[in-house]
Amino acid sequence: MSQTPSQIEVSPRIRRLPPYLFARINRLRDEKRRAGVDIIDLGMGNPQDAPSRTIVEKLCESARHLNTHGYSQSIGIPNLRREVAKLYDRRYGVSLDPEAEVIAVLGSKEGFSHMCLALLGPGDTAVVGDPYFPIHVYAVALAGGNVINVPLGAGPEFLERVAYVAEHLYPTPKVLILNFPHNPTAMTVDDVSFFEDAVALARRCGMMIIHDFAYGRTCFDGYEAPSFLQAEGAKDVGVEFLTMSKPYNMAGWRIGFCVGNAEMIRALATIKGYYDYGIFTPIQVASIIALRECAQDIDAQAGVYTRRRDVVVEGLRRAGWRVDAPRASMFVWARVCDEHLAGQGTIDFAMRMLEEAEVALAPGRAFGENGEGYVRIALVENEHRLRQAMRQLNRALNKGITAPSATKLKRKGGQGG
Ligand SMILES: Cc1ncc(COP(=O)(O)O)c(C=O)c1O
Repeated sequence: MSQTPSQIEVSPRIRRLPPYLFARINRLRDEKRRAGVDIIDLGMGNPQDAPSRTIVEKLCESARHLNTHGYSQSIGIPNLRREVAKLYDRRYGVSLDPEAEVIAVLGSKEGFSHMCLALLGPGDTAVVGDPYFPIHVYAVALAGGNVINVPLGAGPEFLERVAYVAEHLYPTPKVLILNFPHNPTAMTVDDVSFFEDAVALARRCGMMIIHDFAYGRTCFDGYEAPSFLQAEGAKDVGVEFLTMSKPYNMAGWRIGFCVGNAEMIRALATIKGYYDYGIFTPIQVASIIALRECAQDIDAQAGVYTRRRDVVVEGLRRAGWRVDAPRASMFVWARVCDEHLAGQGTIDFAMRMLEEAEVALAPGRAFGENGEGYVRIALVENEHRLRQAMRQLNRALNKGITAPSATKLKRKGGQGG
């Protein structure tokens, strides 16, 4: 017997979610593609380059063993957790107990979301810088917690704003969410002293810290992003998430890690134990090889993003925008000049660029109130396509020419995600 619509009542949790601000843009992008328009999609940070052959071959080899197809361990196989601990020792000089201080997650987005569920509930508050990566806000809302946004920064002024909130809010916020190199702004911290100050603040105010380190290995021009765990005492107050998605181009594989405070990791492990049976074992085995043998591929990929960044920054400057070259992440965060914004909000501006330049951009407003006036450009297309995108934007913005390509091309394969 089918239910009538009136019987369907979703949980208040769903209603707490803010509106999905990419929806209109994605709908228009999809319509245009169906009509055969070659939209250059710089909207989403879905890596389009291939992972190293070594990693793929290991995946296939492991998948050929018939004993690798059952449920895996929810917290990750021991050899993989040991490899993550070795990486932290080698790269950051941080010692981790692979049994208690490392857990594998189904991508850092899943891990982060379940960590929020493990730490936060109704009445609890998390502090998040604005602009923010949307899941940093949605996951808190899904856990039933409240978000306090403070204007984002990567220096003492940001921590002072957090301190002000922590000192004036009752009950004190429970969690501070950090993310450097940052998505969407590509903001970076200069060195580990920022995290040392954050740890001191967390201790003083009784907060936990979750640091999202998704772009920790996607750094340019000699910059090396510090790990939160390099700060003295970081493990006493918080954890760090890392991912295989960005540095190794393994976004679809769904694997990442959470490292740091043993109690927070135990709480995450408890939640995950109820929800999942772990990552497909061959993916974990291939990830061991990636962590152990493929450091040079990460550097090569960062080189690819550096060249793409240069194409975009130069193209935007040629169009008349003032934009800083980021030193990490896979995004350029650019303020739209007033003349080009022409009084529109960035969501309408991005819709206009889809129509007139056939380029998809992420509107800054989708990342919080402080993102208004900016767009985020993902470096997910090759240099040639990026150059073309910049030309099309320039033409649409500066000469009022619409529809850059009269020819309707078939779209490239693959879904910009
Ligand atoms: C800051 C940040 N954190 C987490 C993620 C999600 O990564 P994963 O693929 O590990 O879930 C992304 C993906 O874009 C990201 O930008």
